[in-house]
Amino acid sequence: MNFEFSEEQLMIQQAARDYAQRELIKDVLERDASGEFPTHHIKNLADLGFLGMLVDTKYDGGGMDTVSYVLAMEEISKVDSSCAVVMSVNNSLVCYGIEKYGSEEQKEKFLKPLARGEKIGAFLLSEPEAGSDATSQRTTAIDKGDHYLVNGTKNWITNANSGSTYLVIAQTDAAKGHKGINCLIVDKNSPGITLGPHEDKMGMRSSDTHSVMFNDVKVPKENRIGEDGFGFKFAMKTLEGGRIGIASQALGIASGAFERSVQYAKERKAFGKEIGYHQAVAFKLADMAVKIENARNLCLKAAWLKDQGKPYGTASAMAKQYAADIAMEVTTEAVQIHGGYGYVKEYHVERLMREAKLTQIYEGTSEIQKIVISRDVLS
Ligand code: CAA
Repeated sequence: MNFEFSEEQLMIQQAARDYAQRELIKDVLERDASGEFPTHHIKNLADLGFLGMLVDTKYDGGGMDTVSYVLAMEEISKVDSSCAVVMSVNNSLVCYGIEKYGSEEQKEKFLKPLARGEKIGAFLLSEPEAGSDATSQRTTAIDKGDHYLVNGTKNWITNANSGSTYLVIAQTDAAKGHKGINCLIVDKNSPGITLGPHEDKMGMRSSDTHSVMFNDVKVPKENRIGEDGFGFKFAMKTLEGGRIGIASQALGIASGAFERSVQYAKERKAFGKEIGYHQAVAFKLADMAVKIENARNLCLKAAWLKDQGKPYGTASAMAKQYAADIAMEVTTEAVQIHGGYGYVKEYHVERLMREAKLTQIYEGTSEIQKIVISRDVLS
């Protein structure tokens, strides 16, 4: 076993840390209040190569490994999870899905601009009545010979407005159940697509989340990924990697709140000494440190397995479930350590607590991860 990072991995981590601590921090509170999409930051992150970091250089990506991705995601998420989720969806759902399962033509046409960060991708699986129960797709993609006709509604779609390349999961043949589902690459500007209003969310308020309505949208047949009926398996396989991204995001939220708590505990005095030297606070910090270290190791293990070409579905579910759950615990304790200041926005920890909550919900709730893990344990 080797717990050392390579020089390249450390450089990537440092570049992400520098950008987050120097630039994202400047307007993260304003954007949390306004919900404004961080257009200029996403452009800068693209220029730094973070939007397509996992994509092979031959498709204009960064050619970086998944371990580097975990390190970068943690650093960005310590400061601004709204930017981190754009990065995660683009890299590990949309780019990965097209690179792994798309045709050469699809990679040329759709992957390259996504990898360069010129376009942003969105992953349209969830529906008003199909969130956790993802096989119950109501959106239809009816086979019309040379094209599909798509109708239906998708919900809670990250990057719905900022993104222009959609991966849409839809039912082509209901009689075949999940084997009748396809994934289509859809241009957001296609006639018949409309967006619901920007969701007024509890956290990650400046990532753009909308419902997306499809009304007789024509999608060329060549935009289908894989064989007819591959769409559900495509979604499941792609989410295995997506969950490494969200696990790393949860890790970053937890470690961001932890770093702020350590700093505060060293400065704030009560009863004649810094609060960190009172056992009530010191033990909280110790518990937080252990949980974060465990979460980091689970994220890195899942990433390492993926980089080695070994199965990583259970490992990524473990990383996501654990990191998301401890992110909620750690950020809640961070608010407690900060006391009254923790309840005030300028100290950031209440925002991190609100952001942590979403990591227990999207890309598969903590309960869904336990389904995935327990099925493997019992198999
Ligand atoms: N890899 C390959 N195939 C898989 C798979 C995997 N990881 N998981 C399931 N499958 C296959 C099964 O083998 C089965 O195929 P066969 O019938 O050929 O054997 C088929 O898929 C159906 O699987 P199940 O019978 O296990 O299906 P299920 O109805 O019991 O559900 C589930 C499985 C794991 C609960 C799944 O529905 C699930 O993951 N739900 C959560 C959905 C989710 O994560 N949504 C997130 C939305 S995306 C998002 O949030 C992005 C964003 O914007 C941030």
